[in-house]
Amino acid sequence: MKRYHLTTFGCQMNEHDSERMKGMLESLGYSEAPERAEADLILFNTCSIRESADSRFIAHLGEAKRLKREQPERIVGVGGCWAQSVKEEVFERFPFVDVAFGPGQVHKLAEFLTSDSITAQGYFEFEGFTGHLPAHRERAFQGWLQISVGCNSVCSYCIVPSTRGREVSRPLEELLGDARAMADEGVREITLLGQNVNSYGRDLPASAPTGGPPGTRRERPGFAELLRLLDGIDGIDRIRYTSPHPKDMREDVIRAHAELESVCEHIHLPLQSGSSRILKAMRRTYDRSRYLDRVALIREHVPDAALTTDIIVGFPTETEEDFRETMEVVEHVGYDSAFTFVFSPRRGTEAAAMTVGAVPHPVKVERMERLVEAVQRGARERAQRFVGRTVEVLVEGRSRTDPDRLRGRTRHNKVVNFGGLAAPGELTDVEILAATSQTLSGEEQLLARAAAR
Ligand code: SAH
Ligand code: SF4
Ligand code: F3S
Repeated sequence: MKRYHLTTFGCQMNEHDSERMKGMLESLGYSEAPERAEADLILFNTCSIRESADSRFIAHLGEAKRLKREQPERIVGVGGCWAQSVKEEVFERFPFVDVAFGPGQVHKLAEFLTSDSITAQGYFEFEGFTGHLPAHRERAFQGWLQISVGCNSVCSYCIVPSTRGREVSRPLEELLGDARAMADEGVREITLLGQNVNSYGRDLPASAPTGGPPGTRRERPGFAELLRLLDGIDGIDRIRYTSPHPKDMREDVIRAHAELESVCEHIHLPLQSGSSRILKAMRRTYDRSRYLDRVALIREHVPDAALTTDIIVGFPTETEEDFRETMEVVEHVGYDSAFTFVFSPRRGTEAAAMTVGAVPHPVKVERMERLVEAVQRGARERAQRFVGRTVEVLVEGRSRTDPDRLRGRTRHNKVVNFGGLAAPGELTDVEILAATSQTLSGEEQLLARAAAR
């Protein structure tokens, strides 16, 4: 039997795509090799969001080159966003690569492997949903649901629109069918995936509202409607999604968090910058006050919701004053956690050409340190609200730091390490005894558990 080894870089969309790649390879009769050196097929699913993502992947390629030299019949394949962004140039730069494919062409890997082709092949059209390929779930009780691919925004720093193409939504009925099948297979938590999940459905044809009387006005299904229909599926206890865009964070979506039982109390609302001038240069299409309005609306409808974000420091022309405005928003909002990035110029993007206002490296580093300090302090303070509360935890497995304890996640997406007896995939109640900026710790309520049985 042939064996494959796959290394995944990048975001949750890539993790999803890799699971599908594995499912597809297993349906072709391949099995997974624990080490790259034992594989007949060496694969990489790449990311190109920042320069550091490129270099991390390229560092791994050296080993693939050596293994291919030792055993030339091995196949080396490169998929994902980096491959899409350089296309045929992959083969010029790395002649030992046999097959390269973008995120819309994962299915072509199967075609390549089952053909007699001995010449290198590249596949870079935007045509398929990896969500249509067979799944190979890392955990039986958690599943991804790809609701759309691509992105129609033009954020000036971002490479994703060129690596993932225009936005295409999957039809509502197809998604509901997939979610029902997942529930039947034992999935309790689903995470909806898209580059911009809350613009879901804008490209779909209008149809009569589901369950509405005949003759009612035809409408496009929207993201809030999708959440409502998914919430109605038995067996799905938790619904999460990533990533939404603040411009499309409408009241109906926010209310869904308050009204629908399975929609978790966590919203990721990427800020990028707290300065309206920089937001404009980033082409984010909202300004500081509109962003803060969204936060206020979330706090009004779902007061306890966890809010998380993404922030870029050192965007071209960012002044100390602009950066202070970002710090003010961070202090004002009180994020439960934040991903912070130093601006990285990406090939082909508008911001990469803005060399005149480039922020010097030491300034970027200094701003980053201040930001991380503020984010961690805020997260630590916010996390204290859970101490003394008993919260529902979906058990994921053993704690990474102490194998005698368990690890799981709360609805607020907080990692909890706790003492207890529950099995992976179970929902249980945990009393929270302590909290840091990153994790909670506590004890399972065993008496409550015994009573519930
Ligand atoms: N579609 C999602 C995810 C985009 S990538 C969204 O819009 O939220 C995840 C994060 O990477 C972005 O939110 C942004 O903060 C960061 N990022 C993207 N391009 C970057 C760049 N060129 N330099 C630094 N950070 C970047
Ligand atoms: Fe990139 Fe902006 Fe699209 Fe997100 S919304 S993927 S940051 S272009
Ligand atoms: Fe990276 Fe592509 Fe995701 S560039 S962040 S793998 S969409």
